[in-house]
Amino acid sequence: MIKKIELQNFRNFKKIIFEFSPKITVIVGPNASGKTNVLESLYLLSTGKSFKAKVEEEMIGYDEDICRVDGEASGAESEITNLGAVVTRGKIDIGAERPERVPRKKLLVNGVPRRMVDFAGNFRTVLFGPWDLDLVTESPSVRRRFLDTVLSQADREYRRSTLSYEKGLRQRNRVLWDMREGNIGPDRLLFWNQLIIKNGNYITEKREEFIDFVNSLEFEINGLKLNVSYDKSVISESRLEQYKEEEVSAATTLVGPHRDDFVFNKGERSLSSYGSRGEQRMGVLWLKIAELSFIEEKTSARPTLLLDDIFSELDEEHKKVVMDIAMKQQTIITSVDDEFAKELRKVERIELMG
Ligand SMILES: Nc1ncnc2c1ncn2[C@@H]1O[C@H](COP(=O)(O)OP(=O)(O)OP(=O)(O)O)[C@@H](O)[C@H]1O
Ligand SMILES: [Mg+2]
Repeated sequence: MIKKIELQNFRNFKKIIFEFSPKITVIVGPNASGKTNVLESLYLLSTGKSFKAKVEEEMIGYDEDICRVDGEASGAESEITNLGAVVTRGKIDIGAERPERVPRKKLLVNGVPRRMVDFAGNFRTVLFGPWDLDLVTESPSVRRRFLDTVLSQADREYRRSTLSYEKGLRQRNRVLWDMREGNIGPDRLLFWNQLIIKNGNYITEKREEFIDFVNSLEFEINGLKLNVSYDKSVISESRLEQYKEEEVSAATTLVGPHRDDFVFNKGERSLSSYGSRGEQRMGVLWLKIAELSFIEEKTSARPTLLLDDIFSELDEEHKKVVMDIAMKQQTIITSVDDEFAKELRKVERIELMG
């Protein structure tokens, strides 16, 4: 749970403090007042990453060198953890002839610098916004990123495995490239094969576990029943052996979890091809509910739910489903108006000016 954050030179905020209810906090303000930016800063404290910046320095206020987000998170035993994230443009003007070179990002837990694997997981969140419809309609990479977001928060070993896998993959692809150019022989692959098989199998196993979990949740609205199927690309010695020649001529690794996907189905048919827009939204909502419950099961605490402006697109029934969920954990909601929050009790309100 997050109690309080302070932003400095973050996006459109110079310096500001926000405090959050342990229940529901609604952030209201006109377009471009910075509502999504607040959620971005919370997500940064949660994962060490932005959910929207292409390059992280986008988060730094215009004309500034450095931005900073600090927050007080509390765990199950209500002990406070201080989390901090500092982002720079890689150099800082110190008035000398040449600017000083500094790291582009620093993540801190109780003032001590931490690697991403050890930073993420101190404050867990589930983020839900209009763009999440992409999970049904867009390319597999969107769904893989989703799986990684869920599992990384639930499991430190998963975070470590994905980093290690990605590094191994890059190195292995370089070796494949050199092999194609005729510079080196196949024995140089062996080390990287072992590394990506080991980490790849762990990733596959955990992804499978999550997909099974999603299917085990009883979820039905308006008689709509959905299921998801895991379209996995297994990595093993025999599969790598089988694709060896193709891999060398493509200079890239053709099997493994970096090629995974999953599909939403209504009965036998895929929701992306046959589902209505409303059904596709339900599919995403179902997945988000699963994400909340899965993290709760793995960590014995419900993550904070961040809802960005999702009410404008939902009909009454779907809104009710979301509001029921919003009551079950700390929830932070952004919206241009707070009509929907009228009937709720224990709501804190933050108003941003345009
Ligand atoms: N690095 C930056 N420095 C200063 N201002 C920025 C920076 N990046 C974005 N902004 C400003 O932040 C504003 C957008 O903020 P944000 O997306 O949080 O608005 P919002 O309240 O969510 O709006 P909407 O209701 O339209 O979703 C824009 O006006 C943009 O100019
Ligand atoms: Mg917004």
